[in-house]
Amino acid sequence: MLGVLHSLIQELIFENISLDYRILPGRPVNGIAVVDGDKSISHRSIMFGALADGVTKISRILEGEDVLATIGAFRKMGVEISRDEEFYLVHGVGINGLAKPDSLLDMGNSGTAFRLMAGILAGQPWQATMGGDTSLSGRPMGRIIRPLTEMGAKIEAENEMPPLTILPNNQLKGIHYEMPIASAQVKSAILLAGLYAEGETVVREPAPTRDHTERMLSGFGYSIKRYGDLRDHVSIAGGGGLAACDIEVPADLSSATFFILSALISSDSELHLPNVGINPSRNGVLGVLQRMGANIVLQDQREVGGESVADLIVKSSLLQGVSLNHTDIALAVDEIPAIAVAAACAEGVTEISGAEELRVKESDRIATTVSGLKALGADVTEKPDGMVIQGGSLKGGRVESHGDHRIAMAFAIAGNVASSEVHVSDVGCVATSFPGFYDLSQRVGLNISIS
Ligand code: S3P
Repeated sequence: MLGVLHSLIQELIFENISLDYRILPGRPVNGIAVVDGDKSISHRSIMFGALADGVTKISRILEGEDVLATIGAFRKMGVEISRDEEFYLVHGVGINGLAKPDSLLDMGNSGTAFRLMAGILAGQPWQATMGGDTSLSGRPMGRIIRPLTEMGAKIEAENEMPPLTILPNNQLKGIHYEMPIASAQVKSAILLAGLYAEGETVVREPAPTRDHTERMLSGFGYSIKRYGDLRDHVSIAGGGGLAACDIEVPADLSSATFFILSALISSDSELHLPNVGINPSRNGVLGVLQRMGANIVLQDQREVGGESVADLIVKSSLLQGVSLNHTDIALAVDEIPAIAVAAACAEGVTEISGAEELRVKESDRIATTVSGLKALGADVTEKPDGMVIQGGSLKGGRVESHGDHRIAMAFAIAGNVASSEVHVSDVGCVATSFPGFYDLSQRVGLNISIS
């Protein structure tokens, strides 16, 4: 039954029919929540597998639209990517083996795929054009165009936004780059161009951001150095090669966050979330929620393929307001909409500052989170770099997702604790990062339907 419904949803999305979630409140959530694979690691496993020598075997990859777009782009560049029951197999072509695509590379909704890919394309001896959907076409690319151009890349783009045409490269040269913003996407784009550059490329970040690129390049046998007081300098020398490896993708903490939120704010609830990635450079949400008084226990912490994972047990909790600054934001950059919903259900005031980067995500997430909270009657004030939320309770209402998957999911969960029905509009976007969200929501007990 769920399978049939799932394909129906896919068909409606395909036909561009806008779908809404309808959530009736008041259910406890319970059971085991197996969350889809990590999006950041899934993108990188395809990319690095494609550039490696040999066959990379990936288990539990995220089959969301974003990652499928990355797979499509590499197939267009001559990489064979096959799938059997359990694994994706990427038949690597070696660092210099990509073929010129014969049409535009469509990266869909994904800023991560687009920016990392720009770093790879900057090193190719042929020209390629990359584009994306309406949301991606409005996102700033100057942040990668500037350093890549400094390395010798030739990039054409109107108003520094997609589409981007990357002209054939002469020879990139290594640079020392002080990043003006904390962004793992920018860091990764420069490091990937560094694979093709003469000499050493060094990137320094203003605050630690997720380090999957560094860990995974090491896993693929590429030497990468990290130094500085905060290990905030990353350096790579061009001219090496990557060796294929096996990758087990952990459950995505960013996706798990919606179910963590559901157990925390719903009464009589307890969820077990197995095998969740808790990489310290992006697990800030756990610390923030624990500071709010969340009952989250991490069991059996272990290393799988160079990434930390754990099984999480989350129980209903009385939450308190909290203050978040820019360091918290860098470590929990994708989790702020969910944290904001938690704050609206907490006692006391939550102040979120230093979050200006949220304005250039899949939507302006400061504005879309604030308007969603207001639609459900929360007392919230927007600031240029964040928001102030007075905790209390939520009422029923209609929330616009603005085509942003994380806004859609955060407010679907909020629906379970509102005083009456909540509608979340235009939720097809959820398939970009968490195609299993709807089924899993029903399985843990939420009264959610699609209209
Ligand atoms: C990501 C980095 C983050 C995050 C995105 C995934 C990555 O973006 O928002 O969802 O995989 O590198 P920024 O590094 O630009 O903040």
